[in-house]
Amino acid sequence: MYTHKADSIIAIMTLEEKIGQLNLPASGDFTTGLASSSNIAEKIKAGSVGGLFNIKTAEKIRAVQKIAVVESRLKIPLIFGMDVIHGYETLFPIPIGMSSIWDMELVEKSARIAAIEASADGINWTFSPMTDISRDPRWGRVSEGSGEDPYLGAQIAKAMVKGYQGDDLSLNNTIMACVKHFALYGAPEAGRDYNTVDMSRIRMYNEYFLPYKAAVDAGVGSVMTSFNEIEGVPASANKWLMTDVLRDQWGFNGFVVTDYTSINEMVEHGIGDLQKVSELSLKAGVDMDMVGEGFLTTLKQSLDEGKITEKQIDDACRRILIAKYKLGLFDDPYRYADPERTKKEVFNAEHRQVAREIAAQSFVLLKNKDNILPIQKKGTIALIGPLADNKENMAGTWSVAGRFDQAVSLSEGLRKAVGDKANVIYAKGANVVADSLLESRVSIFGKPTYRDNRPAEMLIQEALAAAKNADVIVAALGESAEMSGESSSRTDIELPENQRDLLKALLKTGKPVVMVLFTGRPLALTWEEENVPAILNVWFAGSEAGDAIADVLFGDVNPSGKLSATFPQNVGQIPIYYNHKNTGRPLGEGQWFSKFRSNYLDVSNEPLFPFGFGLSYTDFNYGEIKLSGTALQGDQTLTVSVELTNSGKYDGKEVVQLYIRDVVGSVTRPVMELKGFQKVLLKSGETKTITFEITPEDLKFYNSDLNFAWEPGEFEIMVGGNSRDVKKAKVDWKE
Ligand code: IFM
Repeated sequence: MYTHKADSIIAIMTLEEKIGQLNLPASGDFTTGLASSSNIAEKIKAGSVGGLFNIKTAEKIRAVQKIAVVESRLKIPLIFGMDVIHGYETLFPIPIGMSSIWDMELVEKSARIAAIEASADGINWTFSPMTDISRDPRWGRVSEGSGEDPYLGAQIAKAMVKGYQGDDLSLNNTIMACVKHFALYGAPEAGRDYNTVDMSRIRMYNEYFLPYKAAVDAGVGSVMTSFNEIEGVPASANKWLMTDVLRDQWGFNGFVVTDYTSINEMVEHGIGDLQKVSELSLKAGVDMDMVGEGFLTTLKQSLDEGKITEKQIDDACRRILIAKYKLGLFDDPYRYADPERTKKEVFNAEHRQVAREIAAQSFVLLKNKDNILPIQKKGTIALIGPLADNKENMAGTWSVAGRFDQAVSLSEGLRKAVGDKANVIYAKGANVVADSLLESRVSIFGKPTYRDNRPAEMLIQEALAAAKNADVIVAALGESAEMSGESSSRTDIELPENQRDLLKALLKTGKPVVMVLFTGRPLALTWEEENVPAILNVWFAGSEAGDAIADVLFGDVNPSGKLSATFPQNVGQIPIYYNHKNTGRPLGEGQWFSKFRSNYLDVSNEPLFPFGFGLSYTDFNYGEIKLSGTALQGDQTLTVSVELTNSGKYDGKEVVQLYIRDVVGSVTRPVMELKGFQKVLLKSGETKTITFEITPEDLKFYNSDLNFAWEPGEFEIMVGGNSRDVKKAKVDWKE
């Protein structure tokens, strides 16, 4: 639609100006605190910059845009990007928390609000959604994704693109999304960030590609490459990925941006010098170079030497200009930066209320022995732990525009909720980690953990004194915000030992202990699961975290989150995921160990908490599965229904999950795969019939020729409240 217009500009651009459009420096407001390039203003005037990212406030953005549209020769507006990952100033739960909600309307709403706020402040492009499937909680960026499942990940990707981009990208309150990190960034060897990725293509297509593709199908405007290599070629130079798969197979017609300096990093990967890797990247299908200026400094020489063509530069430039047209920037370059809108629409009471409601939906109740939760707003509550009175750590990783000083801490939330009905006594009890060196590493982004330098034992004694007269102990423990996220891989994913010592001391008091777990990744909580009566996993819930946690602890909101990633018993089980293959020597159901079967000597194959798991304050009972037929043919539709009863005392929401197993295939198939889910509200005592429809489309998979097709035969249908506890039925589906 805008090709013609873009081409008429390209016709009058110099080569330098075209290459300039491919250049994306960082402003220096965030991330490193330093501008990525010197003399940015001069470069903008010279037409050497296509966009800028992570610059904040409408005023600053207007000022920079003015340089581009007044002082550069062709007056081409800049595009302004930012890592608006889980909200702008109003922060929602970190993405793994959002993916525990299983309600796509809420996911879309969070992205919509993020877009409204960011666009008011001048941002028109977000580096989100991140849709990297990961089955390795050692990798810190599991916090930024939607967990381990391609189907759930695809639904979330679609909802987020819709929320950001709306139906019309040219409106001034919608922003362009950027699906990342293409591709397979979530599968680094040993869970170490940026590490090598290698897997079969059939696995890529069936288990990792779906969410990226879903974003493309939903019309995402841009794609970001990943840092890792795939099949020996770094993603940012991988023609098979960027051109064959993304553009030719999936029909993507937006533009591709690299991750931060990933072109330059290919020198370290060992595939050439800066000129060579820039050439490879352009030829592979990359359009915009984030920060590293490889394109800016080498493409002209490569053209002169005949290594690239001017058409390749024009193609990249055209895609970027078209994006600017789509955003309406040529009509009004300042349309997204409106200080009046900022005042009204950013971090307003309405958005914060929605964030509070959404946050409460993301919490996963992992254990609730003897219904210790919800607790009552009376008596004395001892609030203990390093995450209890800590605003900065509520928001979680990658929340660059957030207002940490105004986030609601758990201590504030509890006190507000109880008013003068109860007494809340606080003690820190422990540092997040005992080792100060480790703590300094995880505070790099400047979120202090308020280290207390007194001896650990003294902190514990102070906590015990606070707990002495309490009726209940709320222990706020886990990771600090930057212990997960980028460059925060861990080999030990248990609760830090000093925090466990505190927990042990609190449990010894014999008082009821509720553990409020802050984490950006699945942790190995075997000891806690055995010993602590109640565990509420709250991830990092955003700016309204403290209020939302109080809502759930006191039962004003019944928890309904379900895990989007398996929690292992220990780190040695990783990678552990529900949709695994059967192997030729599977364990019998309910068995632990059997010689010469696929298992471990020292731990069972079971996860600690399975995918899809999460308790409620009420009880849900599933009836047997009813099928519309057990022998189907061709394009028929199978209707699957179950009766769901809320047999407990509280109204509550349940996520009903549909899984399928393709029993025999031309290639081996997973033991189960999520194919549908519904989040439903049932009043106490109510029964509802939940119905799913399955067509052959849902049975398709990529076979060894990488054709997407279904194969007739026997299928197992499973329905339940998590991937472990399911009702089963069988159908035979003929061609
Ligand atoms: O968007 C991010 C990406 O996820 C990691 N590297 C930096 C980018 C821009 O800040």
